[in-house]
Amino acid sequence: MPHAYEFIDHTYDVVVVGAGGAGLRATFGMAEKGLKVACVTKVFPTRSHTVAAQGGIAAALGNVGEDDWRWHMYDTVKGSDWLGDQDAIEYMCREAIPAVIELEHYGVPFSRTPKGKIYQRAFGGMTTKFGEGTAQRTCAAADRTGHAILHALYQQALKHHAEFFVEYFAIDLMMDDKGNCIGVVALNLDDGTLHRFRGHQTVIATGGYGRVFASCTSAHICTGDGNAMVLRAGLPLQDMEFVQFHPTGLYGTGCLITEGARGEGGYLTNGKNERFMERYAPHAKDLASRDVVARAMTMEIREGRGCGNLKDHIYLHLEHLDPKIIEAQLPGIAEAARVFANVDVTRAPIPIVPTAHYSMGGIPANLHGEVIRPTPSDPDATVTGLMAIGEAACISVHGANRLGSNSLLDTIVFGRAAARRAAELVQPGTKHQDMPKDAGDFALARLDTFRNAKGSVSTSALRLDMQKTMQNYCAVFRTAESLSEGQKKMRALWAKRADLGITDRSLIWNSDLIETLELDNLLYQARATIDSAAARTESRGAHAREDFPKRDDENWLKHSTVRVDEKGDTQFSSRPVHLKPLTNDIEPIALKARIY
Ligand code: FUM
Repeated sequence: MPHAYEFIDHTYDVVVVGAGGAGLRATFGMAEKGLKVACVTKVFPTRSHTVAAQGGIAAALGNVGEDDWRWHMYDTVKGSDWLGDQDAIEYMCREAIPAVIELEHYGVPFSRTPKGKIYQRAFGGMTTKFGEGTAQRTCAAADRTGHAILHALYQQALKHHAEFFVEYFAIDLMMDDKGNCIGVVALNLDDGTLHRFRGHQTVIATGGYGRVFASCTSAHICTGDGNAMVLRAGLPLQDMEFVQFHPTGLYGTGCLITEGARGEGGYLTNGKNERFMERYAPHAKDLASRDVVARAMTMEIREGRGCGNLKDHIYLHLEHLDPKIIEAQLPGIAEAARVFANVDVTRAPIPIVPTAHYSMGGIPANLHGEVIRPTPSDPDATVTGLMAIGEAACISVHGANRLGSNSLLDTIVFGRAAARRAAELVQPGTKHQDMPKDAGDFALARLDTFRNAKGSVSTSALRLDMQKTMQNYCAVFRTAESLSEGQKKMRALWAKRADLGITDRSLIWNSDLIETLELDNLLYQARATIDSAAARTESRGAHAREDFPKRDDENWLKHSTVRVDEKGDTQFSSRPVHLKPLTNDIEPIALKARIY
């Protein structure tokens, strides 16, 4: 261990890293079952990025029209372009119903129908009767659903006496010599002290890595810290080529304008005032799946039919809606449009562009949240002591493209599942084995290297170059040419990592050092993403290769797994997609063309 540092040690039954929807649902679920739980979180729990989720959480409650979990499952498999695991999808869609009712009982202030039931709105790709009608399946608390859920979950966690370590930045996992996870090293950003957290299970719930892109709906904290820790532990990530671009990011800032706006009747036009979605998705139109809408918008802009002087964006119209609907169901986006774009949505359209929003890929995990480390004989083998949930994980319920409102659902259903699994695996109070002598040294060595970085490259400059590279070469449409140019640039940026110069070396918030550790995490994921995108020579879901425009089930109906080593080099493998549902209550959803 570099001698200037000392650890403060903590021992728990379970350690959860992250306090968004998944982290909090797991934390309080475990505490409720009698486990001693530490929740280690980079920001105050109710500032986690789940707070920004707007439109809602999917569940086939059937409060506003007929619905069935089987239809939800069909839509999710189709939305995933058949890359989603059908057993996990069945589990998610079935469990959605009790899991959302539980949320209601925990105190989430959902909007209400005239009969007092949870209000549900339409979202893209959500249908009834296996694709025939439009489902109203997305349970909403106006356009602040994530905010409402996060606050209720935090209150539940406090009620069940979970212990929080707030503004603690997780640096790296502690793995033993058998490859099992025994805990995590974290830095207290308030006073710079270093901590080793032991847990019989360590649960990664650190969210996505949207900040690898220049324009994203993600908060500044979304640096995929858990994903990068997993890569540095020598474990793979899965399906990293699949990044969702949300059709309606506010032009200029990338702020999310919820899909719920189209669910309430909003529509898109191009610079010729045409409702162009009719041409791309004649049936679902503006409520087609997100990848379809984002591509259609990009095509319109590329072909010179964008809006504004620069013809570089699209309009979202809400002016025709009754202002009472906007006031009741979309108050947050009306405010965002006014503050960030100077638009009164009752009078003028909102300028929007596709913006990086969600990573379908992440840490491979099974439907209990246990992390998968595939072996040649067992593609589903798990890592002892390690779980992953929420956007950090790839369970995989979203496959190649996630449907809107299935992400809040994923956080809640699998946070809950992880709590149940941990309660089966861990007896409260079980003694830990002696701490290995070198536990935490790997994390410290890395911290120390960056702390003493005296090169000529600034963290902010390197970050901006990475973000621009990913935006320009690995966005909505991809070709071998663009990706290979992007890969070349990313390799050069990785090399600059060794020439970083840190000015503020303090171990606390907002220091250059902390931003550098986050940037390092992002760089790992940028490499994984762009190399995975170059490797997959087909188009599926959000991965649109112009040079390979068709889905290729013969060669690519498989999950890709990627490891990134300390040189930034990537190694690939694959795992089979689970094409069988969990039970016999539904037939496998057979492969077919994906048309909306
Ligand atoms: O558009 C939205 O409200 C986003 C929802 C989601 O990503 O699930």
